[in-house]
Amino acid sequence: MLKHLKMSNVGPSPKMEMELAPRLNLIAGDNGLGKSFLLDLAWWALTRRWLREVNTKMLSGYPVKPRNTKEKATLEFSLSAKTKSAVRYESTYNPRDEAWAGKAGRPWNLGLVIYAHSDGGFSVWDPARNYWKKKGNVDVQERLPAYVFTASEVWDGLWVDEDGQRRTPICNGLLYDWASWIREKGKEADAMERALRQLSPPTDDSSQLRPGPLMRLSVNDARDIPSIQTSYADAVPILHASSGIRRVVAFAYMMTWTWKEHRLAAEQLGEEATTQVTLLVDEVESHLHPRWQRVILRSLMELAAVLHHQAQVQLLVATHSPMVMASVESWFDEEQDALFHLKLRERQVLLEQMPWSKQGDVVNWLVSDLFGLEQGRSLEAEKAIEAAEAWMRGERSALPNGLDSQDTIHQELLRVLAGHDHFWPRWIVSTQKGRLT
Ligand SMILES: Nc1ncnc2c1ncn2[C@@H]1O[C@H](COP(=O)(O)OP(=O)(O)O)[C@@H](O)[C@H]1O
Ligand SMILES: [Mg+2]
Repeated sequence: MLKHLKMSNVGPSPKMEMELAPRLNLIAGDNGLGKSFLLDLAWWALTRRWLREVNTKMLSGYPVKPRNTKEKATLEFSLSAKTKSAVRYESTYNPRDEAWAGKAGRPWNLGLVIYAHSDGGFSVWDPARNYWKKKGNVDVQERLPAYVFTASEVWDGLWVDEDGQRRTPICNGLLYDWASWIREKGKEADAMERALRQLSPPTDDSSQLRPGPLMRLSVNDARDIPSIQTSYADAVPILHASSGIRRVVAFAYMMTWTWKEHRLAAEQLGEEATTQVTLLVDEVESHLHPRWQRVILRSLMELAAVLHHQAQVQLLVATHSPMVMASVESWFDEEQDALFHLKLRERQVLLEQMPWSKQGDVVNWLVSDLFGLEQGRSLEAEKAIEAAEAWMRGERSALPNGLDSQDTIHQELLRVLAGHDHFWPRWIVSTQKGRLT
């Protein structure tokens, strides 16, 4: 479990520090302020590998560079380890080698790490399968450093070059594995089915994700493709399913695959399987309808418990979604959860932990400090209402061109607001009053 992250002279801000909560950590902030950057750093802290170094097909996850190479740049973190409750690691950038220098040796992290990227890729680090030894002061690679999948490799499998020549499959991919599990009718097929049920919105039975039969896409394609049942068809081949459904299916697969392979590897090595998992999820709402957004965080947390009855899950989640924020109100607990905000102040990015406070509904979240919008309406409606409010306060000089009389403001409100907008009563009462006096 990751406990603390601190960095100076890297990324979007000269200094950032994060004291992580043991269960849910939410990161919000405008585009480009560093949400994905923080997740990439958390991944590095837990695995000590940059994503792009493990898989050069990745379009993100490049090794972190200092802002100013003439000044010292550091990355620090602490996490819970086997023998101690927390171990601390510090790394300093060496500009000559263009590398981060720290203590050699394998990561201390004891748990699984699953990172869901915003573009559909996933990365997995497994304490039983991804490790290396230290000889003298040198890390000797004995196993793969991590599994880093682009979106298409999640589906079609991941191959690596061994000895620079032989291509070896290290994961068969969702299409092949899920089809095999269905044919075997074993534990993994059940696990996938339970995972899909867990990730579906609970409200109505028709949107429950269920596996259908294996199918062929065309006579020229020899693959048996898994399918899902939908409210309008008994079987839609998974390759034809929507982006949202495919995102959810990929989650279910990566979790099932990771636990399964970890259990097998631990058994082969004669070690105990881990019960810890850290989930890093970028833009957790991507492709999901609000109905699904409303359950995704809770489902992800409980999903690990479905696959392993003693799982301890730590989540680090980046989001832009007021619906996701509203969805955690009923169970957010300041003892176990934390909310972080990346914000811009005087051209500087600041990372702050926000005190938790319920906002009530999606619109209230939108206009809270976290998202910072003035209103949940269209920009035109916001402008018309601002003009109407200035008019009601008698601030004639604050009125914009074209919205500088009661009549022009009224016409614009009629054009841009809904008939039932709750602003109408205030405007009408106020302007009627003006007329009566
Ligand atoms: N490898 C890197 N080295 C240094 N800075 C980086 C690196 N990758 C991203 N950044 C910083 O992070 C910013 C992008 O932030 P990002 O995390 O992608 O934003 P978002 O909050 O939208 O996810 C860039 O403008 C840059 O300052
Ligand atoms: Mg991002």
